[in-house]
Amino acid sequence: MPRKFHVFATSDIGEALDVLRQRGYELEVYAKSEAPPQALIIEKVKSGIDGLITTLRDQIDAEVFEAGKGHLKVVAQMAVGFDNINRADANRYKIPFTHTADVLTEATAEFAFFMMGALARRMWTAEHLTRENKWSYWHPYLPFLGDEVTGKTVAIIGTGRIGLAMIKKCNGFDMNILCYDPAYQNHEYVDAIQEVKDLRLARGITKGKTWIKYVSFEEALRDADFISVHVPLLREGESNTPTYHLFNERTLRMMKPTAFLVNTSRGPVVDEIALARALREKWIAGAALDVYEKEPLPADSPLRDPVIEDRCRLYPHFASAARITRLSKDPNKGMAGRCVQGLIDVLEGNYGSDITKMPYVVNKEAFGK
Ligand code: GLV
Repeated sequence: MPRKFHVFATSDIGEALDVLRQRGYELEVYAKSEAPPQALIIEKVKSGIDGLITTLRDQIDAEVFEAGKGHLKVVAQMAVGFDNINRADANRYKIPFTHTADVLTEATAEFAFFMMGALARRMWTAEHLTRENKWSYWHPYLPFLGDEVTGKTVAIIGTGRIGLAMIKKCNGFDMNILCYDPAYQNHEYVDAIQEVKDLRLARGITKGKTWIKYVSFEEALRDADFISVHVPLLREGESNTPTYHLFNERTLRMMKPTAFLVNTSRGPVVDEIALARALREKWIAGAALDVYEKEPLPADSPLRDPVIEDRCRLYPHFASAARITRLSKDPNKGMAGRCVQGLIDVLEGNYGSDITKMPYVVNKEAFGK
């Protein structure tokens, strides 16, 4: 039986927490649905906890690490993204933090794909038409048409795990695929997808030749019918290739007027004021967003403008919100399970207590020999 560890969870992450209770941990869970106030997080950390379970709603920075000085051993985040955790501060205080990469890859990519389809085929507008009893006849093109996804060209901006999963899904719809990544290119994966494409053609599963290739950002913007964004949020100074406002007035204007933008990555990658203008002035055909510069989306957001309503789909940071993906206690299936396992690895000294060998720890650089 491990020694009794004290853990505070800023949110109820479901039955995966029972794994800790069964191991004799003393666990306190913030019971309300909304995020706890920052002062409460600091107070709980100060009280002497060994581990802190967080979500992307919590701001984890020097103040939190200072409060945990001498006793806080790990921050376990239930998300793949960790832009709410100040990595430099974590490293300065030598506190490892974990995330839940991989288990939400397919769910997020499929949601991005569905958003793309819902946007292009105007499913929301079509359902409104039916529900509001405005569907008065079948007509070849009235009151509106949508755009097919099949056979079109999609640009995948960011070819990390989720971008690659999105490529796989787009390939199933015989799309041509432009890839762009500011930091890392996976040519082996892209070559494998081209082989699948060629096999589908050779066996008569598809009719025409389709392709996939890495291109420059400009080329991706210029030639794509759909752009799906899968980069992490990196602000100026955090990387040589920052992604903050990667989509701005200049880059949105480079897209085709018939093109659609889909963002399931992080809100600040897209300048929302510029995007609302792009939709109003029809620089692009439409956008579907699951993430925002400020979450929840403020009541006065320009993205809520009724003028752009039928071309702007808005979702509540929902891409990973599928039952197994969010809550399975199996660390190979669920974010909650992986979050708990990341916490256990550090507290119970798995991997010979070598933090650099622990698979879910993000900031390994602070613990090298
Ligand atoms: C969701 O946005 C995540 O980072 O897990």
